[in-house]
Amino acid sequence: LKILFVTPECAPWVKTGGLGDVSSALPQALAALGHDVKLLMPAYPALQPLVARAGELAVRPARDRWPAARLLDAGRHRGVDLLLVDCPPLYDRPGGPYDDPQGDNALRFGLFCRLAAELCSDASPWPAWRPEVLHCNDWPTGLAPAYLRRVDASGVRSVMTLHNLAFQGVFPLHHAGDLQLPGEWLVPEGVEYWGQISFLKAGVHFADAITAVSPTYAVEIQQAEHGFGFDGILRSRAGRLCGILNGVDDTVWNPATDPHLAQPYDRSRLALKAANKAALQQRLGLRPDPQALLFGMVSRLTHQKGVDLVLEVLPWLLSQGAQLAVLGQGDAEFEQRLRASAAQSPGQVSATIGFDESLAHQIEAGADAYLMPSRFEPCGLNQMYSLAYGTLPVVRRTGGLADTVVDADAAPDQGTGFSFDEASGAALQATLQRAFEAFRSAGRWRALQERAMEQRFGWKERAQQYVDVYRELLAAQG
Ligand code: ADP
Ligand code: GLC
Repeated sequence: LKILFVTPECAPWVKTGGLGDVSSALPQALAALGHDVKLLMPAYPALQPLVARAGELAVRPARDRWPAARLLDAGRHRGVDLLLVDCPPLYDRPGGPYDDPQGDNALRFGLFCRLAAELCSDASPWPAWRPEVLHCNDWPTGLAPAYLRRVDASGVRSVMTLHNLAFQGVFPLHHAGDLQLPGEWLVPEGVEYWGQISFLKAGVHFADAITAVSPTYAVEIQQAEHGFGFDGILRSRAGRLCGILNGVDDTVWNPATDPHLAQPYDRSRLALKAANKAALQQRLGLRPDPQALLFGMVSRLTHQKGVDLVLEVLPWLLSQGAQLAVLGQGDAEFEQRLRASAAQSPGQVSATIGFDESLAHQIEAGADAYLMPSRFEPCGLNQMYSLAYGTLPVVRRTGGLADTVVDADAAPDQGTGFSFDEASGAALQATLQRAFEAFRSAGRWRALQERAMEQRFGWKERAQQYVDVYRELLAAQG
């Protein structure tokens, strides 16, 4: 199949969270299955070295409210052709990919979506390659399935993958003209969302199929509690919605080959993990104590991730002799409270505020257990990385966390971690108490680690599930 995978971020170049990892791994896995995959992404500053060497495939002249843009071929990367939308006034600027100091994100991602749809059309600016599948990811790509209806692109089917419904790409209605959204779309059964425009709503409404990043999340988002106002439209499209769990890219997240680690290890050489704990304690200024239960957390510091629950139980956690290593950035309040906790309990708490890929790997390897008490979690990757690294995850039973972690007490023969239901400090604390008990019994802990490391989250099977979705759509159009 010819697949155009459209995404606003992709590791290793641009990554704010799990979407960056998925956008790197899934297209590769599709290509490995023999498909012709091209990945389309804006040419942000991090991609400028590639831009300098890239070949120009097409030029989209300045048209409507959009400045001129170029489509570039930035070469093949692990089986996937990287296409860039080069438009310096919109994309070559400092800051994160979604920062919007100039208030023009509607135009920035509008152009991105428009070009994605045009590439599918009979009048494509680059007619040499026409996709059969337009695969979109999250709100920055949400208008592409809508624009696909406005261009001549019969035979092309669109898929919208929902990585996080909390981010909806909502902009004032007055952008409708600039974005060339026809009047008949500006209704609740279109792109309108409470008097505004929502890119994500457009994607959910116009895509031929919708996927969510875990089976549990696919069910949860059809309910008011986790639907973020989209539960109604998602229920109405339930026949077109399915959940496909994310995987782990084991060329990047594998303790046996991870170049970031002080000491590589695997299931049969689990004792070597201790060297990573010692190295982590040293790097972060934690007490060099092999007996202290060291919890890790690598996360966007937001309400979603339950950072407040961790802060709530922290005094108790420390009274039990545990250590905590946090790496993250996000809400200023959480950053500040974590910094303060670290300052108050040096040697026991470490808070690194920022984004650090290498330290993320070292925490996964060096910690004994991993904290992920998310209020909601569409899939979550870190709990799967933790399993792979024998770092037992402590999670809330929601979304992808519920699909990937088996509680050690509820199912002693299958347990791989610890989980709880209620989003409260008390429930988290009771669960941590159970983790302490397990940790005190070295044999039991080790058995759990070994089982965790046996879990397989290969992308190959997941990629095949996406192919099944594509094929079903293409077959249905006859
Ligand atoms: P989300 O996408 O909601 O942030 P995921 O668990 O799916 O959550 O993925 C998060 C990804 O981002 C993981 O690869 C994690 O290691 C990484 N990550 C998050 N915060 C940081 C950080 N501060 N430094 C380095 N990596 C981070
Ligand atoms: C989102 C979700 C996360 C998921 C990731 C990749 O950022 O919050 O749960 O793993 O996307 O799909």
